[in-house]
Amino acid sequence: MRRKIVAGNWKMNKDFESGIDLIEDIVELLDENPAGEVNVVLAPPYTHLQSAVEMLIDNKDISVSAQNCHHEKGGAYTGEISVEMLNSIGVDAVIIGHSERREYFAETNEQLAKKVNLALEQEMIPIFCCGEVLDERKANKHFEVVEKQIKESLFHLSAEQFDNVVIAYEPVWAIGTGETASPEQAQEIHAFIRTTVEKQYGAEVANDLSILYGGSCKPSNSKELFAKPDVDGGLIGGAALNAQDFVAIIHSF
Ligand code: 13P
Repeated sequence: MRRKIVAGNWKMNKDFESGIDLIEDIVELLDENPAGEVNVVLAPPYTHLQSAVEMLIDNKDISVSAQNCHHEKGGAYTGEISVEMLNSIGVDAVIIGHSERREYFAETNEQLAKKVNLALEQEMIPIFCCGEVLDERKANKHFEVVEKQIKESLFHLSAEQFDNVVIAYEPVWAIGTGETASPEQAQEIHAFIRTTVEKQYGAEVANDLSILYGGSCKPSNSKELFAKPDVDGGLIGGAALNAQDFVAIIHSF
């Protein structure tokens, strides 16, 4: 089902205590002014996940996501975390293929496809990220870049499996830069993603897909972005580290 989603990707920020404080503040603000039909997702670092799940166990509006997982099921991968481990502590979703993972950890479309499979096997929601770098945008290659990322990591799935996927479009040039895609630019590529999915899986699956925008999304621009018909919410970085800002984004629908 197509849902409105606002997800906070904390990246490598917040020590344990300040992370727990942030969750408490978000819960308190949403108690005062509920999220309504918006599904809220928090993606803190691994060290905070179990506590986040426990704190939010009775909260139907907020779910918990990891920021990554390994592409193998388990075994000799020192320092890594498997999808099965995440599922075993009650994590609901996992961000897959964030551009920072692609860039700094050289993650390939093929590895990301494996991660997507493992997440779905564990009945977790993969929040699959795609997006172009600045040079690709300038060369007008963003459509083909995004299409390739989606095709190579997702299009092996059955329609039934694909129904559980969320896509986040994050133009790399807008991440953490203060620069945002205009609502028109976001709409254009979100519509392109939906059409690409429609060609593969049909109109029903495409229409049910939630496509989130990420890249310097903040309270001052979220309303305009979320007003676009193919923008179903946001994957928020910097502004998710402040409870007031994050909740304001949730309420901008
Ligand atoms: P910013 O909102 O800080 O630009 O980060 C976006 C992002 O990468 C979310 O995953």
